[in-house]
Parts: sequence; structure tokens; C-alpha cells
Amino acid sequence: MVWLPDFGCYHPAMLKDAGVLLEARGLVKEYTGAGGQVRVVDDVSFSIRRGETLGLVGESGSGKSTVARMLLRLVEPTAGEVTYDGINLLAASAGEMRAMRRRIQVVFQDPYAALNPKMRVREILAEPFAIHGVSGRPMGEMLREVGLDESALGRFPHEFSGGQRQRINIARALALRPEFVVLDEPVSALDVSVGAQVVNLLRELQRTHGLTYLFISHSMPLVRYLCDRVAVMQRGRLVELGDALSVCESPQEEYTKALIAATPEMPGLA
Ligand SMILES: Nc1ncnc2c1ncn2[C@@H]1O[C@H](COP(=O)(O)OP(=O)(O)OP(=O)(O)O)[C@@H](O)[C@H]1O
Ligand SMILES: [Mg+2]
Repeated sequence: MVWLPDFGCYHPAMLKDAGVLLEARGLVKEYTGAGGQVRVVDDVSFSIRRGETLGLVGESGSGKSTVARMLLRLVEPTAGEVTYDGINLLAASAGEMRAMRRRIQVVFQDPYAALNPKMRVREILAEPFAIHGVSGRPMGEMLREVGLDESALGRFPHEFSGGQRQRINIARALALRPEFVVLDEPVSALDVSVGAQVVNLLRELQRTHGLTYLFISHSMPLVRYLCDRVAVMQRGRLVELGDALSVCESPQEEYTKALIAATPEMPGLA
């Protein structure tokens, strides 16, 4: 990757050609329900290049979060492989996985549920460093990076709006300077204009820190704005995968066309 000191960011074109960071092959997840085995993810394969944003879209229940959770090993796959920077994640020991958790972070949909209501922002931001036994970073800097200021430190999550809480979640996710962030519908719970601001922030942070994103969303306009490529899921399967602009402008599958037709435009994207 090429850092451009005059601009304080990585060269975007360089980022996207920097090789594969993550590869998922043949991911399967089955659950045992009342009616027997249910396959909620079925033979899903994709790769994500360093510095790229891959969108993952599909209707509710299509398996997007399950795929994301398998990449993070929050859910164990029934079958398949995940390779991260050449390391087989599913065969990684607890120690290796712990080291991986510094490199891979996640931001979930619900900014209310993700923050411990009994902790002040100061404690929330200190936690990742304590868990990993590493020295912290200046908290004012961590907050300014996400558009908040030091006055937030002594306050509790309930004293913030949804957008501000999601900014705190993002600050926490970026605390250990990860390289890959899974964003599981990070703005779906927010008002459209607030969501657009958070998306713009995510884009700016990506450029400043050379981040790689998996961006899960229901919104095709958002995917078109933020993503380089997009993977479309239908009932556990990948049905379309391609350049985000091409998929949004000339979708091949009827299912993708229906997804595009179902999502309204999103104003406020810079
Ligand atoms: N622990 C579980 N046990 C049984 N079934 C599950 C479990 N977790 C998820 N599922 C099922 O797997 C399917 C996919 O769920 P998943 O949460 O991955 O969908 P999604 O695409 O993220 O949906 P949404 O857009 O609503 O977030 C759903 O039918 C869900 O009910
Ligand atoms: Mg989900």
C-alpha cells in the first residue's frame, strides 16, 4: 500500500490492487431445527482484496450475518474454509485467534445493544486495550477520529443519540488499529441523514487507515456508493457477484433487480 503523506491517506487505486486479504471457500452452515437440518448458508465462496469494500446484500434471512459470523468465528461453519492473510482461520488455535481479533473487528447493526449501558465512554474505549494487554491510545484522538470530542468520555451510552453511539462503536472497533472490519448493517437502525453521515465517516476512515471492509446492507444505493464489489445472497446462496457499479446498473438476476427496486434512494451521501 502506498501512503501519501501530503494527503494523510493511502492511495485509493493502490489499495484495491494490493492482493487478497480474505478468502472464503465453500462455506456452509446448517442448523438442526424441528423439521430436521436446515441449511442457512450453502456453498458460499468469495474473496476480499486489501483496501477493498465488498458489499453483501440480500433479503432478511438470506444468511448475510451468518456468513459474517463465520468469518469472525462467532459461528462455527458446518463446512468450508476461511483464509485470512494466508492463515487458515478455522484451524487457528485460541492464541492465534486472539491475535487475529486485533486485526479483525466488527460493528453491528444495533448501536444501543452493542454498548454496555453501565460503562462510561472512557471505560468502553479502554476495554479493547485491557483485553489484549496493550497500551492505550489518547482517547481524545480516538473520539475526534469519529467526529466526537473529549466531553463524551465521562458520559454513559444512554446520553447519546443513535448516530453518536454508532460513532462510539466505530471508535472502539478501530481502537487496536485493525485492518479488516465487518460492518453488519451499521446504519440500518439510524435515520437516513444520520446514516449517510456515518457512511461518509466510514469511507473517510477507510482512506485514512487503509481499511478493508465487508459491508452488509439492505440498501443498494448505499452499496453502490461505498462498495467496490458486491455479493448478492438469496436463501443461503450467492446468486450474483461483481463490480458494484455494474451489478447496480445492469443486474443479471431477477432477484437482484427486485432488491434494487425495493430500496429507495439515499440522500446525503457526499
Ligand atoms: N442460531 C440459529 N439457529 C437456527 N437458525 C438460525 C440461527 N441463526 C440464524 N438462523 C437462521 O439462519 C437464517 C439466516 O439468518 P441471518 O441472520 O444470517 O440472515 P440475514 O441475511 O443476516 O438477515 P437480516 O437481513 O434480517 O439480518 C435465518 O433463517 C435464521 O432464522
Ligand atoms: Mg443480519
